[in-house]
Amino acid sequence: MLVLPHGGSVSGNPVRRADEFAELAASAGAQVLARVAARVADPNPRYYIGTGKAEEVREAAAAVDANVILVDHILSPVQERNLEKLLDLRVVDRAGLILDIFAQRARSHEGKLEVELAQLKHLATRLVRGWTHLDSQRGGAIGNRGPGETQLETDRRLLGERVKLLTRRLEKVQTQRTQQRRARLRNTVPRVALVGYTNAGKSTLFNAITQGDVYAADQLFATLDPTVRQLEGLTCGPAVLADTVGFVRDLPHDLVAAFRATLAEARDADLLLHVSDAADDEREHLQQVVDEVLEEIGAGDVPQLRVMNKVDLTEGLPRLDRDAEGKVHRVWLSAASGQGLDLLRDALGELLAGHDRIRATVCLPLAFGRLHARLWAQGLITAERVEDDGWYLDLQTPRQVLVQLASHLGGAEAVWLREVAGPEPEPADDEYEVLPLT
Ligand code: GTP
Repeated sequence: MLVLPHGGSVSGNPVRRADEFAELAASAGAQVLARVAARVADPNPRYYIGTGKAEEVREAAAAVDANVILVDHILSPVQERNLEKLLDLRVVDRAGLILDIFAQRARSHEGKLEVELAQLKHLATRLVRGWTHLDSQRGGAIGNRGPGETQLETDRRLLGERVKLLTRRLEKVQTQRTQQRRARLRNTVPRVALVGYTNAGKSTLFNAITQGDVYAADQLFATLDPTVRQLEGLTCGPAVLADTVGFVRDLPHDLVAAFRATLAEARDADLLLHVSDAADDEREHLQQVVDEVLEEIGAGDVPQLRVMNKVDLTEGLPRLDRDAEGKVHRVWLSAASGQGLDLLRDALGELLAGHDRIRATVCLPLAFGRLHARLWAQGLITAERVEDDGWYLDLQTPRQVLVQLASHLGGAEAVWLREVAGPEPEPADDEYEVLPLT
């Protein structure tokens, strides 16, 4: 059963937070039997929630026969222990729940090591509960420090040894990883990393665009370890795409550090695809949450292309948005239906090749209606005028697109194409030059 605090320092829309926490619980395999909302303007140092509220939680838990209480807040070890005693039930806080999900989902060797380490560190702060009920004498069994050592001390010592061992192993794995990354850097294949708030659709997009089969489910944290695939068929040549773990708000700070490996993909990338759910009212706030974490891990300066996913759930159509210089900065698409994936490929080709932009005027015969619509969707048209022989389009595009356009239309005879390198959209006639089309 869930305890859902709101008010005070708890951020975000309470209904949205509650649903998200329920999804987190379901992701961890829990069945949610009841929810209790708790207004916590002034947290109680002993229980976090007030004692009256705790009594209400106890009754609600008894009514549905719950066997664990999940609290959507990071509790202090003392608060967790006191609540457990008061409710006589296991209490797991937000950090514990997230760790549990990470533990279930870790796939790579490194991911598993990191999760176990984070879990042990979390546990270490909770071992204090042993002072009350584990404080028994333990005899001189082999491996124990000696007679008189308490259970708690043994637990702490074993835990400390395990932490040391895991840290050593991790350092080794990470050194190997850095070497692999250096080798990849020498290859100079551009690297793209998918980042975004959990459930935005990163795994679905990753699958759709790489035709791979990464596990995507309607569960938070479907992805834990970076999955890297080659992206083929882009106009800039091949690139490498990495999927990363989903971001959540209030991710315990230790976890951000523990998931360095996953997030290192983002830090080392040439371009981040920042995926958002276009149908989500809170998307701007969630984008901010992701940007803040990226900043924290040193990926704040990596160029971003915003991907507004799930456009099928909105009134909008797939399209590219461009800034004043004509550089693409946002793409609207649906990873699930595949609409707009071609636009994303176009955008990646453009951004990774780093082309200078060219202003040009093209006469497109009226028979090319689909190509006309596509140029609009790509955001390449800055102005147009219709005449008897076709659309006269002012374009701002990479040279490569113009050359493709010309070949698509059957060469110089089918298209009237002129270009100018200057900054003004409407240069004097004598500044035009005929673009060689072959
Ligand atoms: P985490 O791994 O938890 O970070 O999630 P994620 O961002 O990888 O999301 P995932 O790809 O698992 O998708 C989450 C849910 O959104 C799944 O139920 C998908 O089927 C659904 N989804 C993804 N893309 C779209 C889309 O374009 N349209 C619609 N309607 N649903 C989508």
